[in-house]
Amino acid sequence: MFFSARRSWLDALYERSYRMQMGEVHLPGLDLYMVNNPALVRKVMDTDASDFPKSPLLGEALEPLLGESIFTTNGEQWRRQRDMMNPAFAQARLNVAFPVMRAATEDMMQRLAALPDGAEHDVEVEMTHVTADIIFRTIFSVPMEGEDARRIFEAFARFQALAPRLLLPSIYGVRWLVWPWDVWRSRRAAREIRGLLEKLIRPRYEAHVAGHPARHSDILQSFLQSTDPRTGQPFAFKELVDQVAMLFLAGHETSASALTWAAHLLANAPEVQQRMHDEVHAQLGDRPAAVADMKALELTRNVFRETLRLFPPVGFMARQASTNCPMRDKQVKEGATVVVAPWLIQRHREIWPEPDAFNPDRYANEGSREALKQGYLPFGMGPRVCLGAAFALQEATLILASLVRLYELRAVPGHVPQPVGRLTIRSANGVRLELHRRRDV
Ligand code: HEM
Repeated sequence: MFFSARRSWLDALYERSYRMQMGEVHLPGLDLYMVNNPALVRKVMDTDASDFPKSPLLGEALEPLLGESIFTTNGEQWRRQRDMMNPAFAQARLNVAFPVMRAATEDMMQRLAALPDGAEHDVEVEMTHVTADIIFRTIFSVPMEGEDARRIFEAFARFQALAPRLLLPSIYGVRWLVWPWDVWRSRRAAREIRGLLEKLIRPRYEAHVAGHPARHSDILQSFLQSTDPRTGQPFAFKELVDQVAMLFLAGHETSASALTWAAHLLANAPEVQQRMHDEVHAQLGDRPAAVADMKALELTRNVFRETLRLFPPVGFMARQASTNCPMRDKQVKEGATVVVAPWLIQRHREIWPEPDAFNPDRYANEGSREALKQGYLPFGMGPRVCLGAAFALQEATLILASLVRLYELRAVPGHVPQPVGRLTIRSANGVRLELHRRRDV
């Protein structure tokens, strides 16, 4: 299994995987259950979530970079971090973040304007750039430019490329196959990123502790001001760096993946793309986008929702059973790994009509209500649901609307992107598209 799926865990799936209710894999040192059945998914992710804490597998691979961040902690420690981070993602903060998102998106449009009309472009590169810039500006109130920012960006790319090589062997129970050289390189990239982030955080932290806080209204400011509701204690410096590193990773890697696939799907569905362009043009005309427009762009949002169904950036979520528990005809033992995979559930043959088709109009249809309830969880579910979901929807609607307003995206003949499961679902051969400037705007 490891050898067939060493490139990507997606290669280990069969047509049967998209029909089953629950599957199991047993290897020396590994008991793994794959849960697709909607009632069981709800049990693991929501109603009995405290019996299924996050699996340590992901935490181990990400620890050098993220330390004890909210993404991997459990129990009381997680509860405290979640309570302290929540205010940074309240609606009011999202309104403050909007002009920042717009400024970064305008910079992206300027980069694209410098390309020759009709040029072939790897949109993954651009989507990674703009989403990293947005999360950087919303955390630190400065654009992601200059030497240190470039080094952070590059070290992140190295860390991300290495993560699956460390993670997959752990999941398949063959940890001894991890190359020490890869471990060393990954740790070095993590140290470099943390060092650079510390350089940005330290002066703000020290000024805050000394009673001279900056007058920013960014995520870092919210974290600095936040206190544990039980003890009144703020984040310690190291824990603050853990959360910022985590947000930088979770805040751009996922959105970049989804936006890249959205561009690919639109290029291959010219009729949907034209309707989306018309929607954006009718809503915005020549004026800059405002927060209120994001709600009005219904088709644009549905395009993004459908992209998240077909290409959920977080393709699977791993939990660890903390007690013995029966599930269907199986006895899941304490310590077993339980995997919930949006990639499978959102294409499940018994939940979704035309499961592999790109059809953003399905969300305007009452008939999809049940499928959405049973089998749609790109942002997870229950207490660990994504903290940045509203943030991601806002930035994605803005970026897609800005792109389709001015450009027609066309597929490059013969180029078929190959999805692979890395940290998120990415394309093994990039996503190259032709960008044609529209004449009617
Ligand atoms: C399309 C974009 C995104 C997708 C698909 C996505 C998906 C997810 C999923 C599935 C989880 C839960 C993982 C699990 O239960 O194991 C999660 C957690 C999280 N996400 Fe996102 N995410 C996105 C964007 C963002 C953004 C932009 C931010 C921050 C700005 C963010 C911050 C977080 C945080 C902090 C958690 C951990 C929550 C916790 O454990 O309490 N995400 N995300």
